[in-house]
Amino acid sequence: MKSALHIISSARGGQSYSKGLSTAIINKLIDKNEVNEVVERDLTKLPPPFLDEALIWEFYKFPEMIDEKGEQLLNYAKAIFNEMNQADIIVISTPMHNFGISSLLKAWLDQLVRVGVSYKFNADGTKTGCLNNKKVYLAIASGGRLAYWPQEYEFIESYIKAVFSAYTGITDICTYRVEGTAEQNFKVDYEDIIQNL
Ligand SMILES: Cc1cc2nc3c(=O)[nH]c(=O)nc-3n(C[C@H](O)[C@H](O)[C@H](O)COP(=O)(O)O)c2cc1C
Repeated sequence: MKSALHIISSARGGQSYSKGLSTAIINKLIDKNEVNEVVERDLTKLPPPFLDEALIWEFYKFPEMIDEKGEQLLNYAKAIFNEMNQADIIVISTPMHNFGISSLLKAWLDQLVRVGVSYKFNADGTKTGCLNNKKVYLAIASGGRLAYWPQEYEFIESYIKAVFSAYTGITDICTYRVEGTAEQNFKVDYEDIIQNL
């Protein structure tokens, strides 16, 4: 049996379509007996700290150089890395905000990705991710529809895939979308969206 980590990043609470979609994914995984434990990380309840100068210094120190104050600054980063490390499946929900991911999710990613932690450099200069063999489901909600825009305006799925593959080693990413939430009389059928899951 496997454990899932559920990341919520829309500030709209119970009204959020991305959270509705990610919750439907989690429930289906439970129904199919693919998951028996869920850890929820709601970024709106405990927002990730933004990177500041002091924290960036700690990110690049060798572990033996980090003192007690540094350890405290790294507390959030360590907590979310451990959650990722312990999960087999990660379900991430995000609203589309100005074509990109939510700022909360970006702040979470900036805490997750760390040299020597989420990825390592090899002797030949190549990188190896440290969070391999995990599956990510990405749940995106947008007011409009991708089909209305040029293809190169797709930034969310491509960005998440790039960051995870380069800096965590996770390459198994499956995306589901709720589109057109801003349309008049919009109705959502989550089961229909995830019917192939
Ligand atoms: C600040 C902001 C920016 C947004 N930018 C876009 C956008 O670029 N494209 C789009 O289709 N919808 C955009 N929307 C609409 C949201 O994507 C839509 O409301 C979606 O349902 C949000 O996800 P949520 O329901 O999980 O909060 C934006 C909404 C807000 C509040």
